[in-house]
Amino acid sequence: MDIARTPSTPDGNPEMADAAVEPKAPPEIRREDYQPFPWLVPTTRLDFELGLEKTRVTARLEIERNPDADASPTIRLNGDGLELVSLRCDGGECAGHMMDGDDLVVTLEGDRHTIEIVTEIDPGANSQLMGLYASSGMLCTQCEAEGFRRITFFPDRPDVLSTYTVRMSGPKKDFPVLLSNGNRADMGEDGASHWAEWHDPWPKPSYLFALVAGDLVARSDSFTTMGGRKVELNVWVRDGDLERTEHAMESLKRSMKWDEDTFGREYDLDLFNIVAVSDFNMGAMENKGLNVFNTKYVLADPETATDGDYDGIEGVIGHEYFHNWSGNRITCRDWFQLSLKEGFTVLRDQLFSQDMGSAPVKRIEGVRVLRGVQFPEDSGPLAHPIRPDSYREISNFYTSTVYNKGAEVIRMMKTMAGDEAFRRGTDLYFDRHDGEAATCEDFVKAIEDGSGIDLEQFRLWYSQAGTPKVSVELSQEGDEAVLTLSQAVPPTPGQDDKKPMPIPLRVALFDRDSGSHSGEHLVVLDKARDSFRFTGFARKPVLSINRGFSAPVTIGRDIANDELVFLAAKDDDPFARYEAMQDLMVRHLVTASKGDLSDDARNAGQADIVRALRAVTDDDALDDLMRGELLSMPSQTYIAEQIEAADPGRIFEEREGLKAFLASELQDELHHIYDRAEKLPYSQSAEAKGARKLKTLVLSFAAARDPQKAAELAAHQYDRADNMTDRQGALMVLTGIDSAERTGRLLDFYNRYQGNALVIDKWFALQASSLHPKVIEHVKALAEHPDFTLRNPNRARSLYMPFTGAPHGFHAANGEGYRLIANLILDLDPINAQTAARFVPALGRWRKLEPGRAALMRAELERIAAAPKLSRDSFEQVTRSLG
Ligand code: ARG
Ligand code: ZN
Repeated sequence: MDIARTPSTPDGNPEMADAAVEPKAPPEIRREDYQPFPWLVPTTRLDFELGLEKTRVTARLEIERNPDADASPTIRLNGDGLELVSLRCDGGECAGHMMDGDDLVVTLEGDRHTIEIVTEIDPGANSQLMGLYASSGMLCTQCEAEGFRRITFFPDRPDVLSTYTVRMSGPKKDFPVLLSNGNRADMGEDGASHWAEWHDPWPKPSYLFALVAGDLVARSDSFTTMGGRKVELNVWVRDGDLERTEHAMESLKRSMKWDEDTFGREYDLDLFNIVAVSDFNMGAMENKGLNVFNTKYVLADPETATDGDYDGIEGVIGHEYFHNWSGNRITCRDWFQLSLKEGFTVLRDQLFSQDMGSAPVKRIEGVRVLRGVQFPEDSGPLAHPIRPDSYREISNFYTSTVYNKGAEVIRMMKTMAGDEAFRRGTDLYFDRHDGEAATCEDFVKAIEDGSGIDLEQFRLWYSQAGTPKVSVELSQEGDEAVLTLSQAVPPTPGQDDKKPMPIPLRVALFDRDSGSHSGEHLVVLDKARDSFRFTGFARKPVLSINRGFSAPVTIGRDIANDELVFLAAKDDDPFARYEAMQDLMVRHLVTASKGDLSDDARNAGQADIVRALRAVTDDDALDDLMRGELLSMPSQTYIAEQIEAADPGRIFEEREGLKAFLASELQDELHHIYDRAEKLPYSQSAEAKGARKLKTLVLSFAAARDPQKAAELAAHQYDRADNMTDRQGALMVLTGIDSAERTGRLLDFYNRYQGNALVIDKWFALQASSLHPKVIEHVKALAEHPDFTLRNPNRARSLYMPFTGAPHGFHAANGEGYRLIANLILDLDPINAQTAARFVPALGRWRKLEPGRAALMRAELERIAAAPKLSRDSFEQVTRSLG
């Protein structure tokens, strides 16, 4: 199925059909053009005659006029590459019908009709992995956002809710397990064939439809809800993967309990199924009662999954489960409201993970993702508000802005309202809009009404893109500390002028002598500039600001290194302490990379960093997970973000230089940490996880100082590892060091895990992200490896995604890395447009780079834009990136 064909017209907008559209410019869909759909579809009956190469779909829709919409003489049923086999209206001929692009438009005279549509599709040929597709012998679906229209003609928009009954039949031996949404109503056999009928009592939009048929086995369990409903839980996987589903099942049960305790949300069916699929475009999907997951977010055991993988599984299982209320019971009116469900659900999964593990560390990890992915997005050509105003391909808006910044925006409401008032707001939201397709405005209003806080000006966070910059000054007037804050929201594409937004900042003022403060304050900066006064300070205190990362902004503070060292050693807010440490290092590296550092300043800066780090290595009150955060250097990308025309080569050298310096200054401390950590046996306790994190951190410091010695240490860690965290950590360090150890352990790793796709993904990823000078050659060779394929998104991503973060590789001064990624986009686009388009943002960073690299990057974007046939996905991302 080819996605690069004449564009279909937007829903309910027949005028657009006549407009002459450039063959390569798909229409722009605008939020302000929203119209309710003229028809309701109270019930939908789907009948699937399943086959890997040919599946026949009979859809029977009961429809009636929508009293709340303008009447229409037709109904527009979206299709995408579908062939119509037959069409009947009320059991006979329809009054008329026509194809409009890919859509089917049926003429209807009465107020109520039954439409029966037969289509035939080829799941085996569906490499886009949207709609119904085959994945290693099984059949499964992905419908969000607009995949249902690749199965049958339907009003494929989230505000059309329908009650589904699904029947499926197929050969027993190919498809012993037949699943769909809701509860199984009936099943039967018919010779070599069998069938099952499923009924979902909850009306839902088409994007939440799911079907799975295949040879699967389940880990089963149950959960009794607070209302006493006993829910059967199943995690379905391929035979042989069953032993690796325990963590997923435990995570699911914890999610169900947590949502009851924290948000008062109870599950609403007797059955909850999760299916793991190895070919999947995204992480997972919250289909009603039948979540479909990327295997990466289900399968884990200590031998094959890292601590990070375990956390990822818990987070994604939680996320998809929480969608049952924030997404399914209350869905989105249109796709511009995507953050309504995603931003809120990300916040919910973050709060869940914070409660399950180390809250401060989870918060730091969340901020790292935001700053590593969303901030660059917000400062580049693809910047958009969390509620976008227009799109050409909605898949391109499943972004870190909609998800992660969306979560931060709701978190700010929670901070300003306080936990209890916020809960009153969410209770009201769930109550008021249950069963509806709602908007972001509905959410804000409910929080406002439920909590009693005024969010009038706060709504700007939904409409304005760009990361606000807050400048901070602290002065002393008599016994008062005066905090003067000003904000600027930078211009973004299509938004030149911004208004000031309310920015909630948690602050504390530390007494220099006692090293403590007398309580935290919440200040809300809602003007361009404002001052806040704090009395009772004999001398100027040390300011700790944006504690807990209370607002998703960048802070420009005029603070002495000494004060940063003070906060890095003493701040009682773990995030602020981490931030002080990062600031200290970032400042130093930014100035150094720009070539603006005198020898004296360099020495002084390095000494300050060592002092601060020593306060961390020596602090017995710290747990190791947190210690690991405090000892981590800021990433290459994050440093580059702080520089106007960044030279990735310079940043790399400075960063490695500092790492080497620190490694030698702190040699004894690091050595001691490693010895202590090494003694802890494997377990999933926070203590043991912390120890593992530190071990690999110590190795990476060692690698900058004495690569050969580090290679030996890493090989030693690799050889005695009894878990994937230690093994992968050691191999990560080894891949950057040209040595015999590197070659040997890479080979061992491959042989040891051959056949385990998720682990082989790691093998590709480690080599592609390595600091090795020949990383480009390695990646080119790996692309020819028999295990490599562009058809599996995990595999394609495993090689090329990490590569876009590799300083020597992607950013090679001659442009070879950029060319490699451009070629990948061109090769992958016809196979899997959605996945291809995800690589475009890396090339869209050209404006932030020094002129030579900027020109090379831009040229690659232009080369992609000139390709004769480009998907809507890649087309939109490339043209926006060229801007
Ligand atoms: N709703 C899913 C989730 O966040 C993601 C689905 C993404 N689909 C897509 N076509 N981009 O849990
Ligand atoms: Zn989601």
